[in-house]
Amino acid sequence: MPENDDLPAVVRRAVAAAASTGFGRSCHPAQGRLLRLLAGGVEGGVIGETGTGCGVGLAWLAAGAGPGTTLVSVERDPGRHAAAAEVFDGVPNVTLLLGDWRELAAAAPFDLLALDGGGQGKDTEPPLAPRRWLRPHGTLVMDDFTPMSSWPPVFQGEPDAARLHWLRHPDLLATELRLTPDLATVVARLVVSG
Ligand SMILES: C[S@@+](CC[C@H](N)C(=O)[O-])C[C@H]1O[C@@H](n2cnc3c(N)ncnc32)[C@H](O)[C@@H]1O
Repeated sequence: MPENDDLPAVVRRAVAAAASTGFGRSCHPAQGRLLRLLAGGVEGGVIGETGTGCGVGLAWLAAGAGPGTTLVSVERDPGRHAAAAEVFDGVPNVTLLLGDWRELAAAAPFDLLALDGGGQGKDTEPPLAPRRWLRPHGTLVMDDFTPMSSWPPVFQGEPDAARLHWLRHPDLLATELRLTPDLATVVARLVVSG
C-alpha cells in the first residue's frame, strides 16, 4: 500500500504541520496504522502519548478512537506544541500539554499509552513503571526499533538493554512487531492476576 494514500483528514493536517515546521521525526504511516488499530480497542477510556511532535501519531490515535475516548499528549518543544495545537483546534476529546513527559502522569492511568518522547528508557533516564501508568490490562506501545535479527536483539554491537527491558518485563506480556523491513515496534499489555 502506498504510504500516504488514504490518510484520515486529521492525519493529513498533522503531516502538513510537520512539513511546514520542517519536523522530520513524525511517526511512520505503518506505525500510525497500528496506533489507529490499537486506539479502536479502547472504548470510553484514556489514551496517552509522550512526545506529541506535530501531532501525527496522535492524529492516527484520534482517528481510531471511539467518541467516548479521551486523548492526552505531552510535548516539551513550544513550537511543535503550538503546531499540534492548531491541528487539534476544535477536537474536543484531545488535550495537549506543554512540558516534560512526566507531567502526563497527572492524566494516568491509561488504557493505551504510546511512548514516543520520554518514558521508553532509551537514553540515560530510567523507563517508566507500567503498573503506575496503565490501567489493569492496559496497552503500551513504542516504536523506532530496528527489527531484531538475533536473540538477544543487538543495538550498536551490544545486547539492546532498552528493548530487553520491555520484552522481559515481569509485569508485561510484550512482543516485537515488524512493521516495515527496517522498523519494529514493541507492544505490551499489563498483566494483572486474579
Ligand atoms: C519522535 S518525536 C515524536 C513524534 C510524534 N509522536 C509523531 O508521531 O509524530 C519525539 C518528540 O518528543 C519530544 N520530547 C523529547 N523528550 C521529551 C521530554 N522529556 N518531554 C516531552 N517531550 C519530549 C521531542 O521534542 C519530539 O518532538
